[in-house]
Amino acid sequence: MIAPSDIEAALRRARLLPVLVIDDAADIIAIADALRDGGVSMVEITCRTPAALDAIRLLRNERPDMVIGAGTVLTTAQAASVQAAGAQFVVAPALNPAVVESCQSRGIAVIPGVATPTEMESAMRLGLHILKLFPAEVIGGAAMIDAVGTVFPDARFVPTGGVRRDQLRRYFATGRVLACGGGWMVKPEWIRARKFALVRDEVRASLAELNPPVAS
Ligand code: 3PG
Repeated sequence: MIAPSDIEAALRRARLLPVLVIDDAADIIAIADALRDGGVSMVEITCRTPAALDAIRLLRNERPDMVIGAGTVLTTAQAASVQAAGAQFVVAPALNPAVVESCQSRGIAVIPGVATPTEMESAMRLGLHILKLFPAEVIGGAAMIDAVGTVFPDARFVPTGGVRRDQLRRYFATGRVLACGGGWMVKPEWIRARKFALVRDEVRASLAELNPPVAS
């Protein structure tokens, strides 16, 4: 069990947050193992398919060491169901105060989507400082984080939306990014074709981007 206060450390450790859209819950074990073999023991399972809740439940039971987030959580009812299924944190595309307050009262960490300084300030007023910058690449990416960093020095970001491997270093160079989120590591076509080794290889390559081998 991971406390809401430990999610920040878990994100910082993972550095990547694979955002998964899953059609067949049974695939979650192979996907999680591929992520872990690649070096990341964390996944966000989006609530955009009927299989999401079963996937969260299965993963919680079969791979208790994985840190599981539930994504695209739009309602308080969804927040309650994903927590009951075993999710340890909630990610939302936008800042919905009802969802935030419901997560806070249930004791589950919540990372709302923000795209403007006004939304960042509103989220921080609700007591949150871990924010999903979304859709990151459309709204300025790392340059946006640099620009708001001086006025919101306590905010920490999980940029998501259009992020790709070759942008990772630039995001981390802001000094305000806990982890970069995205679907580039778990492409739907790879999952459909059950090419889980490609998931592992992309995670590995993305982490290598952040830890370039030292030249001898
Ligand atoms: C999502 O909710 O799907 C995420 O923002 C992932 O976006 P990406 O597929 O562009 O990385």
